[in-house]
Amino acid sequence: DEQRLAVVKEHIGEFPDFPKKGIVFKDIFTALTNGHVCTCLKELIVNHVRSKCPDVEVIVGLESRGFLFSFTIAAELGIGCVPVRKKGKLPGECVSVEYVLEYGKDVFEMQKDSIKKGQKVLIIDDLLATGGSMEAAVRLVRKLGGEVQEALVLIELPFLNGRKRLDYRMGLAFVFQD
Ligand code: PRP
Ligand code: HPA
Repeated sequence: DEQRLAVVKEHIGEFPDFPKKGIVFKDIFTALTNGHVCTCLKELIVNHVRSKCPDVEVIVGLESRGFLFSFTIAAELGIGCVPVRKKGKLPGECVSVEYVLEYGKDVFEMQKDSIKKGQKVLIIDDLLATGGSMEAAVRLVRKLGGEVQEALVLIELPFLNGRKRLDYRMGLAFVFQD
């Protein structure tokens, strides 16, 4: 896995001054244009989940890039995946939580029956920045009675301290970037 990690790491895109001046945007989609990198990344994630959370029952993916990886894990493990989406996108009865963004607020939702009480859940997203999105997703899963086994991200921006907002065992971020 060490080699796979190195391959993935060196293919993450970096875009200075996007979406605003002073921010260096880490772009996972840049890496996914390369088929070999796709395979390496899939194997890294799946190996991680199989070894760290072998009895996980549901994979929760955060809109939008988290969906790519929640489906990948679910399909490999033969379990279900469930979306967390921004307000108004999901049909049927939903539960909501408000979360704070850099500027202003937003609302995340999950469908009410998407997780059963006591189910073991792994939440995945592409990137942890301030941790606001991941923290909100944890609150939603708990609202539905799910047990968050792990929050897993592919990239962590450690200087933003998002990890501090998460009060449970955090899955290793695969790529650390400053
Ligand atoms: C990005 C990223 C994470 C979130 C991390 O998504 O994919 O989901 O921000 O930021 P945080 O840790 O500060 O909450 P974005 O909000 O851009 O949504 P998108 O994937 O739908 O474009
Ligand atoms: N990349 C992708 N999503 C993000 C980033 C980033 O660098 N920062 C905050 N959300």
